[in-house]
Amino acid sequence: MGASVRKPGGISLAWGPVPRSSAPCRARRDAPREKDRLTMKRSVAVFGAGYIGLVTGACLAELGHTVTVRDIVPERIQRLNEGGVPIYEPELGDMIARNKERLAFTLDADEAVREAEIVYVCVDTPPTPSGDADLSRVFAVIDVLKSASHLAAVVVKSTVPVGTGQRIRQALDEADLEHVGYASNPEFTAEGKAVRDFMHPDRVVVGTWDDDTAKLIAELHDGVDGKVVFMDVPSAELTKLGANAALATKISLVNELATVCEATGADISHVAAAIGMDPRIGSHFMKAGLGYGGSCFPKDSRALRALSTNNGYPFQLLTSVIEVNELQPRRHVQRLKDELGGLRGRTVALLGMTFKPCTDDMREAPSVIIAGRLLAEGAIVRCWDPMAQPGPVEPWTSTTRHETPLAALEGADAAIIVTEWLELAEVPWGRAHTVMRTPLILDGRNLLDPQVMAGLGFTYMSVGRPTVSS
Ligand code: UGA
Repeated sequence: MGASVRKPGGISLAWGPVPRSSAPCRARRDAPREKDRLTMKRSVAVFGAGYIGLVTGACLAELGHTVTVRDIVPERIQRLNEGGVPIYEPELGDMIARNKERLAFTLDADEAVREAEIVYVCVDTPPTPSGDADLSRVFAVIDVLKSASHLAAVVVKSTVPVGTGQRIRQALDEADLEHVGYASNPEFTAEGKAVRDFMHPDRVVVGTWDDDTAKLIAELHDGVDGKVVFMDVPSAELTKLGANAALATKISLVNELATVCEATGADISHVAAAIGMDPRIGSHFMKAGLGYGGSCFPKDSRALRALSTNNGYPFQLLTSVIEVNELQPRRHVQRLKDELGGLRGRTVALLGMTFKPCTDDMREAPSVIIAGRLLAEGAIVRCWDPMAQPGPVEPWTSTTRHETPLAALEGADAAIIVTEWLELAEVPWGRAHTVMRTPLILDGRNLLDPQVMAGLGFTYMSVGRPTVSS
């Protein structure tokens, strides 16, 4: 592996291209011989039973490895041990059930580490008030590992700022664990298709400082249908943040273009489709809407901006991307307010609450901002979502939840389509027209056909497309 330098603490830092034997390669698709299979199976401890940890654990078990998943939340582990899955993620429950002989769940960190050769860190890294990533949970795991001298490698999958690997390396060295390899193996899976993304990734990024660890982590993914890309640890850490920044930038760009469309009478669906036909730009992540949400884009874009600012460079483009996104749901509430001539006393139905369909995840969902703004303006908010779990927090405490879209639309002065659940395309909109007080729809995800909605008698507003009415 390229030129290599000796790091204080005795660890060999290697930079540059990896040797031919382990250079960027496609993971083997053919079934390995039984003898090889046996040598490749590893014992893995996964810390964190959230979206990332559970998918990682289940997929590694599917690949034939023995996996113990450890979490600090007793109800979560109990549920898993009873055969349940504490989150909604398609295919995950089946995969866990299929591999139950190779999967264990525990609250006990020592038990998880005892037999493990490799430890995966998949804990969350929420933003601190300063916009930095809170690494306390990551370092709590590293603390547990300080006497685990039998380990072959520690791998961080949690999204962390550039430089975290160096800090962990130092902590391991100080605990006399110089021989334990370190890898950054960021995840690029999207909720709702995380299992498929893990097993058929665009790439598996493996950032290490030594060949042995790079090879070990690449082999761990043997059977995964995707290219393994090797690099140093800081580059792997930045690749993750950079990829999410690039996707967030595309979304904010198309949302800005949509606003220009609204001002000029152009139609974003034509504009975005034609722009995306240029392969240099691409058609993915070109859907105008109410802005991106979820546990990743908002947090990671702010974390990259903070990282950059902390290093003396204000990342201006990213600052604009974030501002555009924060403005997006508020701007559309304002449009609705203008259309209704005020929101006080008006009943508004929110259709879809999760940050995107096929998930129960409400983290940073635009619905939270939209409900908050509507309530602050004095509106009455009714809502529907097929999967979100209401809790004793906003937006649930001040809104009424209804079992069906039609029930939520009953007596409403307006409806906002916040999440593009397929069920919403199947609503009998002709009937919906009769149950609403005012037939006004703001389609925040451009899910429905404007002409059809106008034909049914609605005033139909959407994002970046001309408003139509009968
Ligand atoms: C995202 C990335 O897509 C994954 O590659 C990454 O691994 C993950 O973050 C992460 O860092 O863990 P996720 O947050 O699950 O995955 O969801 P996406 O499907 O990417 O959607 C994010 C948000 O962008 C959603 O609110 C969605 O509605 C919005 N979006 C997406 C748009 O507004 N327009 C689009 O064209 C695409």
